[in-house]
Amino acid sequence: MRMAKPKGWNTTVGKKVIMGLTGLFLVLYLIVHLAGNLTAFVPDGGRTMNLYSHTLHKLGPLLWVVRILLLLGFIYHIVTGVQVTLRNRGARANRYAKYASKGGPSKMTPASRWMIITGILIAIFVPLHVNMFSLGPYYETVINGEPMRDIYRLVVERFKEPGVAFGYAAFMLFLCAHLIHGIWSAFQSLGANDRRWMPFLYGLGTVLSLLIAGGFFVLPIYTYFFIPLP
Ligand code: HEM
Repeated sequence: MRMAKPKGWNTTVGKKVIMGLTGLFLVLYLIVHLAGNLTAFVPDGGRTMNLYSHTLHKLGPLLWVVRILLLLGFIYHIVTGVQVTLRNRGARANRYAKYASKGGPSKMTPASRWMIITGILIAIFVPLHVNMFSLGPYYETVINGEPMRDIYRLVVERFKEPGVAFGYAAFMLFLCAHLIHGIWSAFQSLGANDRRWMPFLYGLGTVLSLLIAGGFFVLPIYTYFFIPLP
């Protein structure tokens, strides 16, 4: 019996488009999340960071819509990533052939071969991270007469533990590797294949990755050394 050929979203190309879209959505979240976290650098004892977090939580149902979309995007991205990797492995008799570039400057960095490994590490990190912060202990503070969660205190307290601070910083190197190749792949999967634009898009993806992972890298280290416990 002949197997039916995969169609539409079920083709490798379709799956790569889904990966590109969900990946860019997750990158967008990371940019917003980093912007929020950088408020920890404001030297006002956490007032700005707590106000930021409190404002987000006051969005109520809208926040839950974003959270659910985020979770679905994350799960879809992981499942599709695993499927594409398994399909590629199965489809190529000669595994070495997949490391060959089709001309032009090679974009196959060690990071591209490491996508699945760095992806698994991120999939392990995120639930642990959410458990540490979103679901962590509830400290309370009062700002402008309004009681609110002291998320700043929780972040500073955790990053005063050397294992947490340096573990987080180390993880950001893996995140950076995943983003550099991932953003570039997403651009390509979504059709940015014009040779004239390729160096620009590759540069853009790399700079974006370095800024995102760099921001997340500096925060725990800076907190560990320079931010006093509230
Ligand atoms: C220095 C690095 C980071 C810090 C200080 C940090 C801080 C936080 C904090 C404080 C929260 C809880 C927010 C709240 O409940 O108000 C949180 C939630 C979260 N973080 Fe991070 N984060 C960092 C890196 C990351 C990275 C790299 C990712 C993804 C790869 C990530 C994904 C998330 C997610 C998915 C949530 C749950 C959001 C929610 O509860 O609505 N974070 N983070």
